[in-house]
Formats: sequence, C-alpha cells, structure tokens
Amino acid sequence: MNGAIFFTSKYGRTAQYAGWIRDATGLPIFDVKDPHADPAEYDFLVLGSPVYFYKLLIRKWIMKNQATIENRPTILFTVSGASSGPKLDDWVAGSMPGALMSKVEHVALRGRQSPREVTWWHRLLLKIAAMRNKDPAARREELEGFDYMDRSSIDPVVELVREWRT
Ligand SMILES: Cc1cc2nc3c(=O)[nH]c(=O)nc-3n(C[C@H](O)[C@H](O)[C@H](O)COP(=O)(O)O)c2cc1C
Repeated sequence: MNGAIFFTSKYGRTAQYAGWIRDATGLPIFDVKDPHADPAEYDFLVLGSPVYFYKLLIRKWIMKNQATIENRPTILFTVSGASSGPKLDDWVAGSMPGALMSKVEHVALRGRQSPREVTWWHRLLLKIAAMRNKDPAARREELEGFDYMDRSSIDPVVELVREWRT
C-alpha cells in the first residue's frame, strides 16, 4: 500500500513533525496548500494538524476531502499545547464529522509556542484566552509559551505506517 503525509502548520512545528515522519518512513509529504496535494492518489493517509483555539487548523481541508479520507486507513496526528486526554479529544471531535472521527487513528503530539515568535494578534488573543482560563498551568503556558517538541513521540505513527505498508 502507498501512503502519503498531508499537513498544515502556522509556525513550523507540525511541519517539523511531518518531516520527522517522512524521514522515518520514506512517505511523500505535502503541505495541504500545495495544489498538487491529492489524497485520492494514495491508499492510506497520514494527516497532521496543529490545534488553534480548540480546533484543528486542517478542518476545512478534511471537510473538502471527507469522501476520500473515509475510504482510506488514516492516521491523524495533532500538535498542541494540551496533552492527550478528554479535552483534546473533544476539540478533535468538534473539528470533524462523527463518522470520520470514529475511523481515524488519532495520535496526540505536543508542540512549541513562543510569545516572541507569534504575531501581535495571536499574542493578544492568547492574553485574552489566559485571562479566561481557570487552569493555572494552561494559563501560564498561554502567556509564557512552552516547548514539548519530542522526536520520539512520532513512534506510534511510524509503527502504524509500517503495519499498513506490508
Ligand atoms: C494563537 C494560538 C492559539 C493556540 N491555541 C491552542 C489551543 O486551543 N489548544 C492547544 O492545546 N494549543 C494551542 N496552541 C498551541 C499550538 O497548538 C502549538 O504552539 C503548536 O505547536 C503550533 O503548531 P504549528 O507551529 O505547526 O502551527 C495555540 C497556539 C497559538 C499561537
């Protein structure tokens, strides 16, 4: 079976994970903005998306390609500040149709955020989100940033790709 990686990224962390997965698996990699990125050409898919304001950035692309994704084994790796758990599961479920949600294998990876890197608009929105956040640890991360990038966390994705290829 032939697979490919399709990702989107704003500040490069999801792109970094997608590149690590490409290096470990040899799968071709496409930014979803690339007009030649056609998931219908592949037997299985690895989709990568960051979470922004409790939603997947890739959600419109997923809706556009819903029929193709439904018919193929699909891994969705998310990149977020939040770790895996019910909160992240809810955000992912809220970003795609239920039928798809039950089909994709979700792997939660954690990213990086630095207040110095983001746009002034994002910095402002993060400050507002922090003011409303009741979780002190999450509030601190929104204001001060974090770095959870971990190359070895792609291992479950690489394992599944190896299974699907054979
Ligand atoms: C403006 C903004 C909003 C974010 N919203 C969330 C969020 O709702 N939940 C979360 O867990 N992480 C959130 N993050 C953290 C990002 O998911 C994390 O920084 C990720 O690494 C970004 O990936 P990218 O560099 O590929 O765009 C947010 C980051 C920014 C800058």
